[in-house]
Amino acid sequence: MREEKKETIKIKDSKAPLAGVGGLLIKNGRIITATDDYVADIHIEGETVKAIGKNLTVNPDKEIDATGKLVFPGGIDPHVHLDMPFMGTFSSDNYETGTRAALFGGTTMVIDFILQKQGNSLRSALEEWKGRSDHNCVGDYSFHMAVTDFNEHTKKEVQEMIEKEGITSFKTFMAYKGALMIDDRQMVGLMEEVKKHGGLINVHATNGDMIDFLIAKHRSEGKCTPLYHYLSQPEVTEAEATGRFADMAAYTGCPGYIVHLTCEGALNAIRNATRRNQKVYVETCIQYLLLDASLYEQNFEGAKWVMSPPLREKKDQATLWAGINQGLVQVVATDHCPFKWEQKLMGKDDFSKIPNGHPAIENRMELLYSEGVNKGKITLNKYVEVACTNPAKIFGMFPKKGTIAVGSDADIVIFDPNEKHKLSAKTHHMNVDYSGYEGWEVTGKVKTVLLRGKIAIENNHCLIDKGYGKFIRRNKVADKI
Ligand code: URP
Ligand code: ZN
Ligand code: ZN
Repeated sequence: MREEKKETIKIKDSKAPLAGVGGLLIKNGRIITATDDYVADIHIEGETVKAIGKNLTVNPDKEIDATGKLVFPGGIDPHVHLDMPFMGTFSSDNYETGTRAALFGGTTMVIDFILQKQGNSLRSALEEWKGRSDHNCVGDYSFHMAVTDFNEHTKKEVQEMIEKEGITSFKTFMAYKGALMIDDRQMVGLMEEVKKHGGLINVHATNGDMIDFLIAKHRSEGKCTPLYHYLSQPEVTEAEATGRFADMAAYTGCPGYIVHLTCEGALNAIRNATRRNQKVYVETCIQYLLLDASLYEQNFEGAKWVMSPPLREKKDQATLWAGINQGLVQVVATDHCPFKWEQKLMGKDDFSKIPNGHPAIENRMELLYSEGVNKGKITLNKYVEVACTNPAKIFGMFPKKGTIAVGSDADIVIFDPNEKHKLSAKTHHMNVDYSGYEGWEVTGKVKTVLLRGKIAIENNHCLIDKGYGKFIRRNKVADKI
């Protein structure tokens, strides 16, 4: 770990009372939160923000001049899969490389998924995941617990996960039959238990049986290229499952969160649910806002974007951007689940064997700024809301995380809104040998990142080591934000 040099500054107005000594001072930045936009200084002491104000009279150990820069809360990506066993292999970023890449891209905290093995307990899955993550994270992290086998034993573990472990959200899959999918009987049972103890259910909402039928049909017809991954998961498979999930959540009263929602039909199912005064949270991912299904038309190259649900159409991108501004979509995540090219080749003769997933943990904040804020699709406040604040609120971490306020963790990004640069596998820090955005020019660059008061990223270098990243216990979740 690098020793920080003590740099003292002269206080210009010697008559002003000294508001603080030591720590770190971020001077003169344009501070953006989900609601505010103002120029001020931030004084950080230890891991948290001590004071915010104009011309703070502080004699700090170190000062960062943020004039002309945006200063916003560290991003929170609530949907990542690190070192995850999946489809006969492991996602290629482990907890060290993944959380470090996240920091380079301005994301200071991630929420990863534990997958219960069918027939085994939630506890044993937690222990297995701790074995890979403990002492290995550079950035902060938490877990959602995926319940893949809800039974009398699992039922008893729900309360323990929430109260003892601070794991307050439970992931369910309505697809991937035989490995991860649960049926509606289990879903309703789990919802009742999770609601009772103050948790939330997040869901991969696609109709697994229908998808399996289409996969088998395409394979039997010899249609095996990545394009048929897309054609096996039409919009209706997502719209139907999203509506069904919303119905079950309305019936049980359990707070629900749809992960990686991609399309108009599915968002309309949520829109309909609001007509009976229901609230279901919605996450989309950066790739569904920016990329479309034409990428599957290029033979096996399309495997880079084989993910579930698949990329959709331009009209769906328009729906998602509108949904963000309508408040129907609260979170933009990544579903970061990278596989190297040699892993993608596992499916070279059969799209159903291509490991599903796409790398983006490092790119989300810059892409969303460049394509969203810079191109006038969302405001700066909305940017912070969907990328930082709402994930913290929904998943029980606000205001410790997700904002810049006195007493909050000093997870802070200093961002140059004008610097242009290109995304490339040659320069990214994710452990994957291609980029889904190769050659894209983005406007806006993460310059400095603080994690709990420590400078984590500066001048394109990571200054903290694995082990600094802390497991964040979460509170009971918000059913209102
Ligand atoms: O393709 C994807 N999304 N891979 C990761 C697992 C999941 O469904 O989220
Ligand atoms: Zn999923
Ligand atoms: Zn996922």
